[in-house]
Amino acid sequence: MQIVSTIAEVRTAVRALHTEKGSVGFVPTMGALHAGHRSLVQIARARCGAVVASIFVNPTQFGPKEDFSRYPRTFAEDCAALQAEQVDLLFAPEVATMYPADASTVVRVEGLRDRLDGASRPGHFDGVATVVAKLFHIVQPDAAFFGQKDAAQVAVLRRMVRDLNLPVEMILCPTVREADGLAMSSRNRYLSPEERRQALVLWRALQVAEALVKNGEQQSARLLDALRSVFASEPTARIDYLAVVDADTLLPVEDVRAGALLAVAAYVGSTRLIDNLILPSSA
Ligand code: PAJ
Repeated sequence: MQIVSTIAEVRTAVRALHTEKGSVGFVPTMGALHAGHRSLVQIARARCGAVVASIFVNPTQFGPKEDFSRYPRTFAEDCAALQAEQVDLLFAPEVATMYPADASTVVRVEGLRDRLDGASRPGHFDGVATVVAKLFHIVQPDAAFFGQKDAAQVAVLRRMVRDLNLPVEMILCPTVREADGLAMSSRNRYLSPEERRQALVLWRALQVAEALVKNGEQQSARLLDALRSVFASEPTARIDYLAVVDADTLLPVEDVRAGALLAVAAYVGSTRLIDNLILPSSA
């Protein structure tokens, strides 16, 4: 695996990969890699001739009081994991490479930027859209791979790709979970053993809702009530949002028969966790 930190090096390396291996798949990450990230690489590996990954803890998607400075950085382990997954090229730039001091251009996906995580984390999706647009321009992949775990991020980025006519195929990959159901996340390592146990409330709540839908429940309001009572059983977990929305627009839907995204964000201690389920169409 070749590891590069400059844009010129990426361009040269990707040109060679295109010639030697055909299509290029891209997996952008912020590092602190776990099996969820690795699954994205495996799916990319299966679909594309070459795989490029990036590790960049993007400052512009963190709010001033968020965890940018303490976000886990495990570069040596990450390199070993990507190498083991046969990644061809790793782009790991410095902040100054991605953002010159007078960088002034921001990609804003209006409407979607304010929904779900965008409502709780103002400006977050501007940072995500801007850095992913930049990474797409630098790497110029044929396809890019994103996790269902960050469903709102996927909606924002799909809209950006459509609106800006970016020639990148967006591939959505399933959420990878721990054996007990907790969605894998780089932030899980912030949890104490007791918080780790409490964090399971997100998965429990989603499963209750899924069972209700399988048993014929159609009304989002009643699903949300059921989810809230599951959270009441774990009073130390604080709901940030609970929503039944359309997966493309992230706008609330009242009736789940046409399919919907059931999304939750909650604080366990000071750690904010997210999870979601796609409720399939039953119409
Ligand atoms: P990061 O949180 O490192 O996630 C990188 C990719 O891994 C995202 O597409 C995310 O959805 C996916 N991922 C995380 N946990 C997963 C899980 N349990 N199962 C499957 N996929 C999972 O998301 C970001 O970084 C950043 O916002 C980024 C897109 C890199 C822009 O900075």
